[in-house]
Amino acid sequence: MNLKLKILVSAFLILSFISCSNKAETGQLTDQEIESRIEQLVSQMTLKEKVSLLHGNSKFTVAGIERLGIPALQLSDGPHGVRQEISKHSWDPAGWTTDSSTYFPTGTALAATWNPALAKEFGQALGEEARARNKDIMLGPGINIMRTPLCGRNFEYMGEDPYLISEMVVEVIKGMQSRDVAACIKHYALNNQEVERDRVNVEVDERTLREIYLPGFEAAVKEAGVLSVMGAYNKFRGDYLGNNAYLLNDVLKTEWGFSGVVLSDWDAVHNTVESANNGMDLEMGTSKDSYDDYYFADPLIEAVQNGEVQESVVDDKVSRILRLMFKTKMFSNDRHAGSFNTREHQLAALKVAQEAVVLLKNDNGFLPLDKSSVKSIAVIGDNATRKHSEGGHSSAIKAKYEITPLQGLKKYLGEEVKINYALGYEKTTREEYGKELDHSPDPVKARQLIKEAVQVAAASDMVLIFGGLNHDFDTEGKDRKHMKLPYTQDELIRQVYKANPNTAVILISGSPVEMHPWIESVPAVVQMWFAGMEGGTAISEILFGDVNPSGKLPFTFPVKLEDSPAHKAGNYPGENLQVNYEEGILVGYRYFDTENVAPLFPFGHGLSYTEFEYSDLKISQNNGEVLVKLSVKNTGAADGAEIVQLYIRDEEASVPRPDKELKGFQKLFLKAGQTGQVEFRITSAELSFYDVGTMSWKAEKGDFEVLLGSSSRDIRLSAVFTY
Ligand code: BGC
Repeated sequence: MNLKLKILVSAFLILSFISCSNKAETGQLTDQEIESRIEQLVSQMTLKEKVSLLHGNSKFTVAGIERLGIPALQLSDGPHGVRQEISKHSWDPAGWTTDSSTYFPTGTALAATWNPALAKEFGQALGEEARARNKDIMLGPGINIMRTPLCGRNFEYMGEDPYLISEMVVEVIKGMQSRDVAACIKHYALNNQEVERDRVNVEVDERTLREIYLPGFEAAVKEAGVLSVMGAYNKFRGDYLGNNAYLLNDVLKTEWGFSGVVLSDWDAVHNTVESANNGMDLEMGTSKDSYDDYYFADPLIEAVQNGEVQESVVDDKVSRILRLMFKTKMFSNDRHAGSFNTREHQLAALKVAQEAVVLLKNDNGFLPLDKSSVKSIAVIGDNATRKHSEGGHSSAIKAKYEITPLQGLKKYLGEEVKINYALGYEKTTREEYGKELDHSPDPVKARQLIKEAVQVAAASDMVLIFGGLNHDFDTEGKDRKHMKLPYTQDELIRQVYKANPNTAVILISGSPVEMHPWIESVPAVVQMWFAGMEGGTAISEILFGDVNPSGKLPFTFPVKLEDSPAHKAGNYPGENLQVNYEEGILVGYRYFDTENVAPLFPFGHGLSYTEFEYSDLKISQNNGEVLVKLSVKNTGAADGAEIVQLYIRDEEASVPRPDKELKGFQKLFLKAGQTGQVEFRITSAELSFYDVGTMSWKAEKGDFEVLLGSSSRDIRLSAVFTY
């Protein structure tokens, strides 16, 4: 093309871009219009410009192309709040004074609400915050399955069940993306441990992959239209997720039709040609001296020039980036501006915290406490005063504020009740923690702290021990070594209980802990999670009965670590950088219920201050669909919410199936004495297993049992139907 012609063509293309932009400004483009705009833009780019869109140009940004009006992309962690601003070219905080944000409860807490509508509110509020900070992609939610109680990142994720995860994550994503910010579902896939996460190779059979580890991601793509997916660090069947043709190209892009962006976890791309050809789109966080040295920078240009990567492959990646930009209205004038640290967002954080709290044990109605009859309360434990927002690594939040349990209680109780605080145990370094008193780093000090706590407990009417874990344990990059409570908490709880049996233990953690040293004696135990900036408010309202607990466990609490399937089978953390998921589909309650191993607390468990009665189960069939109806009555004196869980048992199948699988749930708010109706529809999807012979889902004819209950181990009604 001669120069004049080139100028003419460029002028025409720019003009047509501008003429379209009136529509773009209102954000009303149809998918077809978006695709033609993308085509136009790509056709105007040089190879260098295209490639500039495919790699980071700072820790959390991707360069734009000014000449074509393409803005830079701004990315941010993470799943439970907008992370503080990080320096452009180092991990140091950027030093902003305006980046303290709303700190929401973490993933396990959100999952414990079993409330998809609330998940949507959470997503909307997070999306608002992201936009107010000018972010285009939020690096979350995280949904790796809890395969082991030890995984350091369990707290960020949503538990052990693919159905619960799918129902919740779809709403989070829809909520976030409704605010014109792209969610980035992570970590795709099989990043179920932190030990050697960037080198370990995972082997898992196809059926397990499809039934346990992929459904959350599939739902995010197909039902929520997630705009980006983060490739994990680990390998699967020998190939890194950064260049895993099967999971990226075949499953995600071809089979599920994902049309958004696959971006790498930070420093998770290992090569140019394979990654480019196998489905990675955007490389982030690689440790190189210059951004031009990224695998998807100069080396990609060379690979195209020497024919190892077709330019059409690059065009597809660029199109995906542009598609994400159009879908989040980055070219539009009416993009959501967002809002930041509003009371509404803080109230969303509070609501999630309230609905997340799980009442694990409550002998003889020990809780709720009665403000008017309690004169003094001993509040004991490091977690009563510890703030957790800044921990956990990449998901850490510089919180606008964080109300600790002690602050929450003081505010809630005012002058009416005297609070006596004692530390009880000391947070030492992670390496040093000793679970037995004599193994603690400073046994003399540990004994002294317990002694003081015992004195305070003996001198108070009631005791609240705030223990559990903190982000030295529930953290990215490391797994726990065992499931016992750290420091000298077991001994503390035992001795405090002896001094004052009116003791409740409140656990802050995102993973299960062993409780056998004291669980039989202590009358009340509460799982509070990492409950966000309003955690202290929520727990006070729960303990004193203003809010009736309604959370349910999104994962099983095993009695001891060896009971949990990956550990029983000896398949964690793997050998020689190889981990085989030999327990197959028997993950979480699927294992405990099938193999009859008694858990400490089962999946789906959570008590209330009231009682619920299930009755009138009716089943009818119509056109291959099974309609399940039942009534649930709040028979107690307090208003409350029940999460009615529907499990399916396949009575006879050509392949081994778990004892039961969650296939429906509904959270029902009922006033004292009120009866509510619940309805579920069961289709072939709920009855199917993944058939590796045909590589598709299959529902076999025969008898199925539908089980309705308050947890996986507390089934209240059941019936058999023939499909
Ligand atoms: C984490 C991701 C995170 C990224 C950016 C990685 O280490 O695995 O979850 O989004 O860092 O901070």
